[in-house]
Amino acid sequence: MLQKIEQTTAYIRQCVNFNPEIGIILGTGLGALVNEIDTIATLEYKDIPNFPISTVQGHSGKLVFGMLGGKKVVAMQGRFHYYEGYTMQQVTFPVRVMKALGIKLLVVSNASGGMNPTFKVGDIMVIRDHINLFGTNPLIGPNCDELGPRFPEMSEAYDKRYIKLAFEIAEQNNIHLQKGVYIGVTGPTFETPSEYKFFHIAGADAVGMSTVPEIIVARHMKVPCFAVSVITDLGITGVVEKVSHEEVQQAANKAEPKMTLLIKKMIESIVEF
Ligand code: HPA
Repeated sequence: MLQKIEQTTAYIRQCVNFNPEIGIILGTGLGALVNEIDTIATLEYKDIPNFPISTVQGHSGKLVFGMLGGKKVVAMQGRFHYYEGYTMQQVTFPVRVMKALGIKLLVVSNASGGMNPTFKVGDIMVIRDHINLFGTNPLIGPNCDELGPRFPEMSEAYDKRYIKLAFEIAEQNNIHLQKGVYIGVTGPTFETPSEYKFFHIAGADAVGMSTVPEIIVARHMKVPCFAVSVITDLGITGVVEKVSHEEVQQAANKAEPKMTLLIKKMIESIVEF
């Protein structure tokens, strides 16, 4: 794995002379943030050695390097999902590479189904913690001690400083934010009403099919993380309705301007990592 990371990082460095401070993973329908980046270089996944190629509708596969809010960022336009058939190592490989490139913060966005009865479609939920229900873990297998410990601790997977900053920025900009626990599942099926209920009883506020693997790998390497989720549908007892990928995209697109503003202002206001 180390060799692969080094090979990929060397290729990227050879194409782009740039040391990003922040890595951003742009999830479903949240691609607009990319338009706010003063792009210095773009690399297509298909040209990057060892990178898998993204297949899901609405996700193009590019690594975008540039300036956002006065900071050097690298953004993943298109991410890899476990349900597409990639291994957990493939899903999380770009996070390893971003860390090798020097990131000091990982920002992740995603779409999810809300189970908290106070949530509405289009809400933005700051993730304060997660439950890994993928039934697997990207760190299974021999541990690479150079990257992180065999048994990483996860007591503050989502950095409290950035959660606090998000709420400060939201207040200043009149953005309504929710806060909650994200439960990560494999998909690709959406949940049955009983599954939504089960996840809510288990302590989760929203359910989605991503993010948890990437956060685990980032925390393995002690990279601070911040993640937000757009509530694109509701799995609330008595309110559960049929959900489609198109609806998820539509709701995510609607929340996009708020989300973009929040992340941009947050990045702008970071003084020290
Ligand atoms: N369940 C799982 N993943 C999702 C959902 C959902 O309801 N909405 C968006 N991603």
